[in-house]
Amino acid sequence: LERDDQSKVGLKLSKNLLNGSYRRVGEERLPVTVIGLGNMGSALAETFIKAGHLTTVWNRSHVKAIPLVEMGAVLADTIKDAISASPLIIACLTNYGITLQAMEEIGDALAGRTLVTLNSGTPDGARKMAMWVTGHRAKFLDGAVKNVPEAVGRPDTLLYYSGDKDIFNRYEKTLKVLGGDTVYLGDEPDLAKLYEMAVGATLLPTLLGFFHGAAIVTARGLQASTLVPYSIKWLEMIGSIFSEYADEIDAGNYTNPSASIGIFYEGIEYDHEVGEEANIDVTWQIPMHDLLRRAVKAGHQDNSISSLIELLRKPKQ
Ligand SMILES: NC(=O)c1ccc[n+]([C@@H]2O[C@H](COP(=O)([O-])OP(=O)(O)OC[C@H]3O[C@@H](n4cnc5c(N)ncnc54)[C@H](OP(=O)(O)O)[C@@H]3O)[C@@H](O)[C@H]2O)c1
Repeated sequence: LERDDQSKVGLKLSKNLLNGSYRRVGEERLPVTVIGLGNMGSALAETFIKAGHLTTVWNRSHVKAIPLVEMGAVLADTIKDAISASPLIIACLTNYGITLQAMEEIGDALAGRTLVTLNSGTPDGARKMAMWVTGHRAKFLDGAVKNVPEAVGRPDTLLYYSGDKDIFNRYEKTLKVLGGDTVYLGDEPDLAKLYEMAVGATLLPTLLGFFHGAAIVTARGLQASTLVPYSIKWLEMIGSIFSEYADEIDAGNYTNPSASIGIFYEGIEYDHEVGEEANIDVTWQIPMHDLLRRAVKAGHQDNSISSLIELLRKPKQ
């Protein structure tokens, strides 16, 4: 079948990845465009191709499109052609600034279509992107992939979106191809990035904590891998107490603690002692220890550890 014929029959056929022939997928699949074929963009495009969508791709350096074209993707010569090929365009470039820069020359190609951005960034970046898309007479959804490229397409992979609700409803089934745990957060376009930043705030401190622990055991000649089962169990425990702390924060009531600030304050000395014994740099812990000292000084010793949020909140200007 020629590509035009495929469009006419509503993409009931898609390229078979294994033997290069066409197979019937039984239902209509929306043509999609993926812009940006880095690690994440390539995973998104591959997942759409495997799900039977006619997938048009574009990347600044065309070489990254080759494996996808071999799987059945259509490589557009220009970003404008890529956008013109589908009603739904997914952009996964490094950030909003680069996305806007790459789309400078598209003219009115986006008009009447939907752009979904899946790059990392800030809520302000998402708001500016939303205004730019609206100015191009197009619809917009912003999203975040909360996993690694290898997890794209799995039933439990989390992605969240915010922006135009009707558009989310219209494309939900197609977006779910990228991850079964697809969540709509609300019609404000910056919500996905707000939650991405808020959820992501645990990543670096958690990883640093693991590396710190690994430095402690390896200083004793033990393998870092011996830590893994216990650290995973520990993280599960930490996750299990989030909702209790969230309830305390939402109620603004910290007076019935299961773990007090005082308990954590006592642990400061242990951190110093073990750090010295293992001969490791513990300076990354200093700001956290300072926070605990300030909380104790302010009289929060017997309050829940969740009351630290009151020290993080700056007074309103
Ligand atoms: N990888 C992950 O685990 C992961 C997970 C969740 C979210 N994300 C987010 O997904 C987004 C993409 O990540 P990635 O891992 O795919 O990054 P990547 O592998 O570095 O790919 C970056 C993409 O942006 C393009 N690009 C960069 N500068 C450009 C420019 N000036 N003009 C045009 N295109 C440009 C690159 O094109 P070239 O190939 O031509 O350089 C490539 O397509 C990021 O916002 C990232 O934070 C990534």
